[in-house]
Amino acid sequence: MAMITWITDDGRHRQAEVNDGSNLMLAATFEDVPGIDGDCGGCLSCATCHVVVDAAWAERVGGPGDHETVLLDTTASPRQPHSRLSCQIISRPELDGLVLHVPAEAW
Ligand code: FES
Repeated sequence: MAMITWITDDGRHRQAEVNDGSNLMLAATFEDVPGIDGDCGGCLSCATCHVVVDAAWAERVGGPGDHETVLLDTTASPRQPHSRLSCQIISRPELDGLVLHVPAEAW
């Protein structure tokens, strides 16, 4: 279980405890986080789950895989150094306290 915080572009915060093994796109849509759509259901084909990992957490979260890297070039808001597709981030205890920023235009 990990407590995850999403911060939207207008400064609103949403928090949720996310079970280990769940991806953070599903958690965000369950919590109705604005800007996280998850159109493809997490099969890595839409890029509507774009988030920017807070710099303090980037190393612990890790970088994108090869296919995710390609898809990150198609996001509506420009890709940033710590951009990830949140369907590819899996909750685990080490991510307790993680902060994710939701871009102005996620899709
Ligand atoms: S939900 Fe479609 S790429 Fe993440």
